[in-house]
Amino acid sequence: MTRVFSGVKPTGHLTLGNYLGAIRRWAAVDQHQADALFCIVDLHALTVDHDPARVRRLSRQAATLLLASGLDPEVCTVFVQSHVDEHTRLSYLLECVATDGEMRRMIQYKEKARREGERGGSVRLSLLTYPALMAADILAYGTDEVPVGDDQTQHVELTRDLAVRFNQRYGHTFAVPRATHPKVAARVMNLQDPTAKMGKSDDAGPGIICLLDEPDVVRKKVMRAVTDSGRDVVYDPEGRPGVANLLEILAACTGGNPEGLSGVYESYGALKKDIAEAVTEVLRPVQERHKELCADPAYVEGVLREGAERAREMARPRVDAAYRAIGLLPPE
Ligand code: AMP
Ligand code: TRP
Repeated sequence: MTRVFSGVKPTGHLTLGNYLGAIRRWAAVDQHQADALFCIVDLHALTVDHDPARVRRLSRQAATLLLASGLDPEVCTVFVQSHVDEHTRLSYLLECVATDGEMRRMIQYKEKARREGERGGSVRLSLLTYPALMAADILAYGTDEVPVGDDQTQHVELTRDLAVRFNQRYGHTFAVPRATHPKVAARVMNLQDPTAKMGKSDDAGPGIICLLDEPDVVRKKVMRAVTDSGRDVVYDPEGRPGVANLLEILAACTGGNPEGLSGVYESYGALKKDIAEAVTEVLRPVQERHKELCADPAYVEGVLREGAERAREMARPRVDAAYRAIGLLPPE
């Protein structure tokens, strides 16, 4: 059976981008068609300035939202990265396989490091080595497929390179994974700046729809979305990125396709009204279930405890094999 692994960082409130780009597919497709693991990658949240209490809170919230989005612990494994030591054990070996140059080529590193520099802050070493930990997340489980949004393509490519290199040098140990992306909404853009991804870090901004935003807030954010000059509704991601993003969101929420939908609307206002409605409808069941689950924190904790146990059992033998293959003396 195909093994699927994916993760989400508890660095901010989960967004519509996370949902349409990744989580919705995990729940609707991946967990049913594959032996799937979904991870709250909390160690990754420590690669940038962080507040300990907030990371803890957001980790719990992310777990609750994954379950509220339909991940079913009866058919898939949901767990927290730091509960399973195998991730960091393997990450170190992969740092010994990766090169400094290939880490520095990562777009996400370059962008985040530049932003941090502009702010006069310092860059954590773990931000540079982050892709080795992400590769460990994936490779520890013999993963075949990694369902992610577009922004993670480069990291998954690097993971493939590291798997191939490790296997060539030290003998076959890892499956070579590939990234999979949704057909529409693989990169949902910020409603206020359609050239930037709708990311979690710039939390609660007017261009970011959070999964827990109330209908009124969603409506306001959609109605205020920037559109391009011109008035006609056409799908042209290059020339008209604002409208294209809106059409993609609508298509993703209603099951249509962005080009087809572009012919339906005569004004931006009518388009936005329907989007606000469609997004609210998509979020409603998730928010309702989230509320129920918040009333039962022991259930969520139990899911994470069992998930970590299962994950540990799955990862352990492969990581042990990697330790032996690379030349480390087995204990006893
Ligand atoms: P992150 O928020 O970086 O932890 O991402 C978790 C998952 O959501 C990854 O698979 C990302 O590729 C995906 N994702 C995050 N932001 C977006 C976005 N704006 N559009 C599409 N997918 C996204
Ligand atoms: N780097 C991913 C992101 O920022 C999160 C992540 C960490 C991940 N480890 C992973 C995604 C393993 C898929 C598989 O979105």
